[in-house]
Amino acid sequence: MNNILNQIKSYCNDFNSRLAPFFEKVEGQERRVVEAMEYSVTNGGKRLRPFLVSECAKLFDIDFNCSFTAAISLEMLHSYSLIHDDLPAMDNDDLRRGKPTCHKQFDEATAILAGDGLLTFAFEVLAKSDYEDKTKIELIKMLSIASGAVNGMIAGQMLDLSAEKMHNIQNPENIIKRIEEMKTGCLIKYACQAGGIIGQASEKQMQILSDYSRKIGIAFQIADDILDATGSQEIVGKTLKKDKNQNKLTFVSCYGVDEARTMAKRLIHEAKEIIGLFGEKSHTLQDLADFIINRDH
Ligand code: IPE
Ligand code: IPE
Ligand code: MG
Ligand code: MG
Ligand code: MG
Repeated sequence: MNNILNQIKSYCNDFNSRLAPFFEKVEGQERRVVEAMEYSVTNGGKRLRPFLVSECAKLFDIDFNCSFTAAISLEMLHSYSLIHDDLPAMDNDDLRRGKPTCHKQFDEATAILAGDGLLTFAFEVLAKSDYEDKTKIELIKMLSIASGAVNGMIAGQMLDLSAEKMHNIQNPENIIKRIEEMKTGCLIKYACQAGGIIGQASEKQMQILSDYSRKIGIAFQIADDILDATGSQEIVGKTLKKDKNQNKLTFVSCYGVDEARTMAKRLIHEAKEIIGLFGEKSHTLQDLADFIINRDH
């Protein structure tokens, strides 16, 4: 566990050291929205999705520099999803990554615009990148699908909010699985796919990445739900016990913490076997899978 923690930490340092230039250009009154965007991207975060992009690309001998553009683009999109997720109309959260949420630090309208700005910027960064045209188009296509309203992240967020108001659901398992696969799983899946796209993976290799990422994606959200129920607020950096208070439909609300943990462990075991098909090169991705369920934040 220590090894992977150090690897993630070192990746975070490299990643964070390159963020400032993305937010420098705008002057004048409208700079406020760029400040809110910068605040939300640079205020910490595990950088798990960028790390996944980079590690999956590494399977194909692609270095950090080359995968960085896809990684930062995804982290911008992820940060947008968090800003909007925290808004009063959604989860109404005050704390994110141990700091005031974007709408608390700035104001609601600025937070909405900062989310819009990051979402748009994510695609601008890809469109302006040095990737070959074919790679660029594929990344843009897959990211738009993963984050979209048709079986993507937005669809998952909609279902997550709708489920709060559902009562006496007959088969909650299916709904929960869909929520978690879409709201969280889709961006995690894209992270792995992006590494494969940059690395020009074969169809078979893409399938392995896709199978691995589906399993760690659901396990990641189960771990998030468990942390909400049992974690330490200081370490997690978010207001906890919110899922229960807001009547969220999660693996924990449906099965309880112990069974949810068992399910997550099973998924991680399977994910490790799958990614193991890449042999020696997959060790970090195997350790990362363990980190996903053993993390305390
Ligand atoms: C939080 O994601 C939102 C979910 C999809 C569960 P992370 O736990 O990756 O958040 P950061 O980026 O590290 O803050
Ligand atoms: C958020 O899920 C998923 C997205 C932002 C797409 P949660 O609402 O469970 O995330 P946290 O717990 O607020 O980070
Ligand atoms: Mg939410
Ligand atoms: Mg939330
Ligand atoms: Mg949560």
